[in-house]
Formats: sequence, C-alpha cells, structure tokens
Amino acid sequence: MPSTTGPVANAEHLSACTVPHSESLLQELKSRIDADRVPRHVAIIMDGNGRWAKQHGEHRLVGHANGVRSVREALTAAREIGISYLTLYAFSTENWNRPTEEVNALMDLLVKTVVDEIDELHENGVRLHAIGDLASLPESCRQTLQQGIARTAGNTRITLTLALSYSARWEIVNMVKAAAQQAQAGTLDPERIDENTVSGLLSTHGMPDPELLIRTSGEQRISNFLLWQIAYAELWFTPDFWPDFRKSHLFQAVLDYQQRERRFGRISEQVAPPTP
Ligand code: IPE
Ligand code: IPE
Ligand code: MG
Repeated sequence: MPSTTGPVANAEHLSACTVPHSESLLQELKSRIDADRVPRHVAIIMDGNGRWAKQHGEHRLVGHANGVRSVREALTAAREIGISYLTLYAFSTENWNRPTEEVNALMDLLVKTVVDEIDELHENGVRLHAIGDLASLPESCRQTLQQGIARTAGNTRITLTLALSYSARWEIVNMVKAAAQQAQAGTLDPERIDENTVSGLLSTHGMPDPELLIRTSGEQRISNFLLWQIAYAELWFTPDFWPDFRKSHLFQAVLDYQQRERRFGRISEQVAPPTP
C-alpha cells in the first residue's frame, strides 16, 4: 500500500518496500496512469541513505552508493511516462555541515556517477542541468558537471536537474539581491514586480513549477527545498529509504497525484469535470 494513507514518520522499516515492484505489478501500475495528466515536473527529496546503510550493517557511504541505482530508476520511470522535468535534491547547503569524510565521499560519488552515466543520459535524450551554489563545489565536480551539461544541452526528452549545494533560502536571498541590483540600475521598476518577475530570477527560471514533490525515508518536511516553486505542489511521502526507491514508487506517486483534486483555492464544483 502507498504510504500516503497512514502515518509514516515512525514507520517500522522492514526489509521489503511498501510499494511492490514485480514486473507484472509494475506494468499494471504503469497502465493505470492517465497519459494526459502526467505532471510536467516532479521533484524528489532523496532521503534515507544513511538509515538504509545502518539497516544493512554498512557504512553510510554504502547507502549513498546504492542510491545511484534509485536515481536511474526514477529517471527511467519519469522518461517512460513522459515527465518533462525531474529535479533531484542531491546535496543541500546544510549538508556541508556533515563530517568532512562524508562530504568528500558525496562529491566523489557525484563526479563518478556523472562520468559513468553521461553517455547513456545523452543517448536517452536527457538534458542535464544543475541548480545551487555551484561555485562552492570542488573544481573537479564543477568541471565534470559543466562538461555533462554542455554535452547534453541540445536534448529535449527530459531535463534532469541536480540540486547541489542548494537551499531555497539561499536561492531567495540571491533573487532579492538580483532584483535590488536591477532596480538600482534602473532596469527593474519595483512597482512592476510580480510573481513572474520573482520566478524569472530564481535558479529554476524557465521551468514549470513542480506539480508533485516526493520525499523518501518517512520524514515529512521540506528541508529548504524549492520553497517558492512548491507553493501548490502535491506532496507524496513514502517510508521507504532512497536506495530502495524503484520505478514502481514513481508510478504509484503519479497515480496518487492523479487521484487528488487540485483546487487552487476554489471549491470542488468549480474544478471537477462536469458529470455526464
Ligand atoms: C540522503 O540520505 C542523502 C543526502 C542528504 C546527501 P541521508 O544521508 O540524509 O540519509 P539519512 O537521512 O541519514 O538516513
Ligand atoms: C535533505 O535531506 C537534503 C537532501 C536530500 C539532499 P537531509 O537528510 O539533509 O534533511 P534533514 O536534515 O533530515 O531535514
Ligand atoms: Mg537525511
């Protein structure tokens, strides 16, 4: 059963996932998705690598390494059902406060993963993109990322955005600075600032806002991710840890999303399709 129906914060983590993923069930889940109402943009807070490792008696870094397969699964599933933008929270501004050994290992894993995967990403029409304070990343990471981004810039099937050294408050502070500088230079009239102005000055400019936000590991918080952009996103939580995330989780999340009534402040009768 999907976790959205019950409390998940203190869920017991069993070795099996809450979403079944046999091949036949996977196809069954996929076939139930309404292709006309697939979210354009899905964002994921990939959480629980450390707890997954602990559960398996391994070092935290093994959890991070096993999370790479889940990234592949999420991306493949997103491509298969026609999602245009997948944004993954890979490293937050606050994650710099982790032990140096873990931070360094995460940076190495990022470089290795981009190097290993870039050919396949390119062949599959994936456009790689990154948001966050990229200047704070080690030189090797920045270079590898920039090469991957440049190489895949012409792809149009899906945009994979990695949020790296990212936090929403960092982004909002930068947006305010940019707006103030433009106002000072006389290129932005403060009276004319509207929601589009703000969206256009964020690092996600040009992308639609995520309609669906997924978080793994049972935590039900946003942890400084895309605060402006998720104003009306549907939230989907699973107790499963990120290294256990499979295509079936994404399909289940999209199915649950399609069952929700998105009212945007209106009443049900205003948004429900007329009954035949
Ligand atoms: C998510 O897993 C990966 C990153 C935040 C980089 P965690 O490392 O946060 O795993 P837990 O939450 O400690 O289990
Ligand atoms: C959020 O996970 C950041 C990423 C997934 C990159 P954390 O594990 O850092 O979040 P908190 O600290 O538990 O809120
Ligand atoms: Mg965590």
